[in-house]
Amino acid sequence: MGRIIALSSGKGGVGKTVTTVNVAAALSHFNKKVVAIDANLTTSNLGLHLGIPLYPVTLQDVIKGKARVEDSTYFHPAGFRIIPADVSLSKLMLPKTSELLNVFYDVAEDVDFVLIDSAAGLGKETVASIEAADEMITVTNPELSALTDALKLGKMAERYDTKNLGVVLNRVRNERHEFSKESVEDFLELPVLGHVHEDQNVRSAIANKQPVVTYRPYSKSSNQFKSIAARLLGEEYSPNVSLFQRMFSWLR
Ligand SMILES: Nc1ncnc2c1ncn2[C@@H]1O[C@H](COP(=O)(O)OP(=O)(O)OP(=O)(O)O)[C@@H](O)[C@H]1O
Ligand SMILES: [Mg+2]
Repeated sequence: MGRIIALSSGKGGVGKTVTTVNVAAALSHFNKKVVAIDANLTTSNLGLHLGIPLYPVTLQDVIKGKARVEDSTYFHPAGFRIIPADVSLSKLMLPKTSELLNVFYDVAEDVDFVLIDSAAGLGKETVASIEAADEMITVTNPELSALTDALKLGKMAERYDTKNLGVVLNRVRNERHEFSKESVEDFLELPVLGHVHEDQNVRSAIANKQPVVTYRPYSKSSNQFKSIAARLLGEEYSPNVSLFQRMFSWLR
């Protein structure tokens, strides 16, 4: 039985989908079997990040009993499977915890990881995926508004008995006003599993419909996502260094 982990945030737009896609690609790089599920049924965009916005069969069809889970599962060349949600307004729905639970447990049977791309906020949609998952990763940015919402999210995870594994601190710019790793850990009372820098390669990768982990494997953000995936596996990760980067460091 695989681990079922929701990637959640209180505040929207902090990088849940980017993190889901890239941790999935990084775990696949480490030869793990992964399925990423878009449980953000109101503003779904996992498929958009992977270049396939219009899938014929989606999570909504499975929930409504119109299709089997296998029919809604697609392989992405980055090495993992995806269960997308329909992006059209006509398929808009709020999933119930029990509906998601059925899908998550069905999928988890023969994979190592089920990564759930959650909706933002603290509404019913977010609650459903947090309650249906066993574990949660809090995705946030190093700023007060995102951290305050992350704190509330943590309380909610406690209420539903979902283990809060820790924090992915995304879009770090090392600016003076930013919260440091230590202050985030103190504020949220959670370990920081890893940080990811603001990196324009992430945006180019999305435009090129791929995780940055496969699009720019030697980039800073790619190595940072791999290090987060290694941490989930309880392993140390030594960053990928390109031949050019190695030559450059010898010259220095
Ligand atoms: N590390 C990063 N470096 C640069 N840009 C980033 C990074 N992470 C995220 N972004 C940018 O932020 C945007 C929002 O990220 P993403 O869609 O993953 O957020 P989200 O939390 O899933 O949003 P929502 O709450 O709407 O689901 C991306 O489209 C990308 O342009
Ligand atoms: Mg998202």
